[in-house]
Amino acid sequence: MKEVVISGTGLYTPPNAISNDQLVDSFNTWVQLENQRRVIEAAESNSEPVLLQESSSAFIEKASGIRSRYVVDTDGILDPLNMCPRLSERPDDKPSIQCEMALQAAKGALSQAKLEPEQLDGVIVACSNFQRPYPAIAVEVQHYLGAGGFAYDMNVACSSATFGIQAACDAIRSGSARRILMVNPEICSGHLNFRDRDSHFIFGDACTAVIIEAGKLAAARVNNKNSFRVLGSKLWTGFSNNIRNNFGFMNRTEPDGEGKPDKLFVQNGRKVFKDVCPKVAEHITEHLSSLDLSTSDLKRLWLHQANLNMNLLVARKVLGHEPSLAEAPVILDEYANTSSAGSIIAFHKHSMDFNTGDKGVICSFGAGYSVGSVVVEKT
Ligand code: COA
Repeated sequence: MKEVVISGTGLYTPPNAISNDQLVDSFNTWVQLENQRRVIEAAESNSEPVLLQESSSAFIEKASGIRSRYVVDTDGILDPLNMCPRLSERPDDKPSIQCEMALQAAKGALSQAKLEPEQLDGVIVACSNFQRPYPAIAVEVQHYLGAGGFAYDMNVACSSATFGIQAACDAIRSGSARRILMVNPEICSGHLNFRDRDSHFIFGDACTAVIIEAGKLAAARVNNKNSFRVLGSKLWTGFSNNIRNNFGFMNRTEPDGEGKPDKLFVQNGRKVFKDVCPKVAEHITEHLSSLDLSTSDLKRLWLHQANLNMNLLVARKVLGHEPSLAEAPVILDEYANTSSAGSIIAFHKHSMDFNTGDKGVICSFGAGYSVGSVVVEKT
């Protein structure tokens, strides 16, 4: 089978960060205001008020490992009377915000791969939420970047990047493209309910980019030193409503439901934790054995970055011992859950120390449910 490599990665990190304390302050101010309103309303109707509980930074860090997150807009999120990013609509002839993030990450990946945009045969934008249905964000990225070939959007929630890498590998192996840019512009703050105590701390924004190309082409560039051979990819999906978002064009057909919490991110976090961890560990183990590899062949797991305890459990199950930070690097403490970008941020930031022959697994998991793994080896 034709050899395919990852020859470059890029990362765009928004310039503004929000700490747990800042987020909790804003949330708790909103809770106090809302509770005052509920007390008055209950007194007027002679009933008992149902009061909301405050959030806490200590809980957030203990339950998730998250300490801060980068976002495209801090002011709108931290304003207790708004609690959502404030981003102005842009005219159609200006790049959309997702396109702008994608261009930044793509430039980093192209520069690492020592490639020019016109050498690309395709662009895949793979992420959890698209700011519009069409024209595809990928076609816009292709246009502003000056890439050739074709472009399309795809969405497999948090697993979008590994599914995108497999789609790119398949296109290269079948001969429909030689080089593909796969990019993950995640504006998770746009679909996070900042008034939901159970999940208001979960997400952050970021964009990652990956160049996937035929091994022979990458090897021919003497100045390209950073390639990873894709030894195999494996995808799995199984339907679940435990992570769901009902936002969509059908909402206007039942106006009563518009703006309700289910039109944003909703999850049963505990159930997700229980269902997904064993599945992911089994998935990685089976994938390795299908490639005649064992966990002792691995130097690193670049796992999806949703929850530290989840990653420790998955890594422990796969490796058979307590994972070190070198074996399962953590970026969610700084970035929170950036959906599809998470495992690629971990790969981008923690793969420079690999020597020829070192192997690792990029693995994402999330809504669907969906799990994707990509086993790579430094060339
Ligand atoms: N501040 C303070 N306390 C909070 C809180 C907050 N923001 N949110 C919940 N709590 C309380 C709950 O009320 C509960 O209190 P109780 O024990 O008195 O009833 C307690 O903390 C535990 O709540 P729970 O929701 O069971 O916490 P958890 O340990 O399951 O952690 C998540 C919550 C979301 C961090 C965790 O379930 C998770 O990360 N799951 C996986 C999610 C995931 O990967 N999703 C994929 C997204 S793409």
